[in-house]
Amino acid sequence: MKQPMKQTSKKTGNLLLIAAAAIFALWPAASILRAQSAEAAPKPKTTQQAFKNIQVLKDLPPGQLIPAMQFITASLGVECDFCHVRGAFDKDDKPTKVTARKMMQMMIILNQENFDSRREVTCYSCHRGASKPVSIPMIGDTVALEALEDFAPPSAAESTPTSTPASTPAGLPSASDVLDKYVAALGGAAAIEKISSRVGTGTVTFAAGPALPVQISWKAPGKQITVVHLPMGDSTTVWNGNAGWLSAPGSPVRETNEADYEGARLDADLQQPVHLKQLSSDFKVIDVEKVRDHDAVLLLASNPGQPGLELFFDTQSGLLLRQLRFSKSPLGLNPTRTDYDDYKDFDGVKVPMHMTIARPRTKLDIQFDKLSQNVAVDDAQFEAPPPKPPQP
Ligand code: HEC
Ligand code: HEC
Repeated sequence: MKQPMKQTSKKTGNLLLIAAAAIFALWPAASILRAQSAEAAPKPKTTQQAFKNIQVLKDLPPGQLIPAMQFITASLGVECDFCHVRGAFDKDDKPTKVTARKMMQMMIILNQENFDSRREVTCYSCHRGASKPVSIPMIGDTVALEALEDFAPPSAAESTPTSTPASTPAGLPSASDVLDKYVAALGGAAAIEKISSRVGTGTVTFAAGPALPVQISWKAPGKQITVVHLPMGDSTTVWNGNAGWLSAPGSPVRETNEADYEGARLDADLQQPVHLKQLSSDFKVIDVEKVRDHDAVLLLASNPGQPGLELFFDTQSGLLLRQLRFSKSPLGLNPTRTDYDDYKDFDGVKVPMHMTIARPRTKLDIQFDKLSQNVAVDDAQFEAPPPKPPQP
């Protein structure tokens, strides 16, 4: 009578093994089960008794360990071998396993201290299917470079090595060559340096709103004014080289935030392509990525204690396709992504006629249809506005 029973249970056992093997993606599931059953003589009551090296997930029914492991793999988007050595699950020889244990403790304490021990924060809350969580808000599907997430105050930045490669990856041009090619593609340094002003007119579209008339004027050195013609009046954004302000019909003048000064300086500089090399003490070629339909070399410009600047240059034309920059805040970095295209030649210098400026929650699209250079731009526009009227 017992014989057929045994047959069946062996069969189910085999089926379980096959299912387990499938779940663990060809991992030696058999060895896990063996570890369990070896000590199964008096049926283990806790994970500690059933497994060899449990320090955090202890005092739980043994059957709960593997589901926990499945949850971790799903949360981090990895396989078991991200933390484990084949056939020796108990060993702590991978640093990721040691980190994972600390993370479990962190998660427990976080929930204890902030959420009355309710399980509100899990591995997935932060990791979202990636082994390294994203700490800078994404713009569309654009994720900031990991190296940027190591951004720290000056003292720490000097002692912490960044995770970017020290030298140019094989097969890629040097940062200096990429920057030289960019200047040459635009028309050369001499032509760029001759531009003393630029006025572009066209349309701007905010998100899904209507196209509004816009005029952007630049004046060397480093001044820029954007005027959007709204039905109720003009909205202007001014940068005069040292400070900036925004005014819109019906609202008080607002000064440019200091966190945005660096970005404003970059945008306002007509000779920016020539000045790029001086911008950073450290340019690194990271890799080749897709930007829209183009292959682009990604360059990271960084300065100690400053958030980096990501520049994407077309591998074919050498032109700048995208810029990703970050402004500081006490809680994290705020990203701005600017895309450039539709380059046209004016006075021997190529100028992007189309720009898309995106932040995590906003996007504006600027298309010029007319552009002129070395024309008069009235200096009066760059004078600071009258002091704010007293607040009621
Ligand atoms: C992100 C790291 C990580 C991943 C991925 C991971 N584990 Fe683990 N695993 C751990 C940690 C940490 C422990 C120890 C837990 C403790 O100390 O409480 C552990 C313990 C184990 C143990 C107990 C070993 C022993 O005898 O002590 C087994 C078995 C195991 N994992 C299997 C798996 C399987 C199967 C997978 C894939 C589905 C997996 N793990 C994926 C981190 C990981
Ligand atoms: C509160 C947010 C948060 C939670 C919750 C969290 N992590 Fe993390 N984890 C991080 C951060 C941030 C890093 C990256 C640290 C770094 O880059 O040095 C990280 C890194 C890791 C790493 C190292 C990855 C690598 O590539 O070296 C592992 C492994 C890991 N976490 C596992 C886990 C597991 C397992 C859990 C759930 C038990 C968990 N984490 C929960 C924030 C979190």
